[in-house]
Amino acid sequence: MLDDIRKVLYHESTLLSRLDELAHQITEDYQGKDLTVIAILNGSFIFMADLLRRIPLPLQVDCWSVSSYHGTKSSGQVNFRQTQLADVRGRHVLILDDILDSGVTLAAIRERLAAESGALTLKSCVLLRKTIDQPRSINADYVGFEIPNEFVVGYGLDYNERYRNLPFIGILTQAAIARE
Ligand code: IMP
Ligand code: MG
Repeated sequence: MLDDIRKVLYHESTLLSRLDELAHQITEDYQGKDLTVIAILNGSFIFMADLLRRIPLPLQVDCWSVSSYHGTKSSGQVNFRQTQLADVRGRHVLILDDILDSGVTLAAIRERLAAESGALTLKSCVLLRKTIDQPRSINADYVGFEIPNEFVVGYGLDYNERYRNLPFIGILTQAAIARE
């Protein structure tokens, strides 16, 4: 698996020290507020676990299973595999996702929450945001790292469901991409 990585972008220690900063800011912003974190699976499972353990607030967590990617391209279509939503009426909601690329996924999630949930506020937090040329349909309130417009894997992010368990974030070799 490690042979398939062309370049490591962020080692685990770098990721975790940035999470310390993000967690500190989120803790300050949601002090005294009823917070529900909605984590978007599968991609955010490691990010969620590492970030939430750094936030000493009495928050609630709900996980949504959403997919939009096939290989290294977005399908443009967002599939919600979960139909039942946690009750967040009168609560503040923070959506956690692994990466903001086109913004189509986050926009669909926000739209659904805004229409149905009765949440007091809706914000989002992503570990990575890709630098893109065209205007996005949506942006994130908290961003871990701004990355170049390349396909990345590891720390929860996959290529055809593989590489999620790498402890760092890296870029695949052309050979690994071609093999799938
Ligand atoms: P968006 O809807 O284009 O913003 O894409 C967001 C989703 O696509 C993320 O939650 C990821 O699951 C997936 N994705 C986007 N870029 C990458 C990448 O570079 N590596 C792995 N997954 C990605
Ligand atoms: Mg994916």
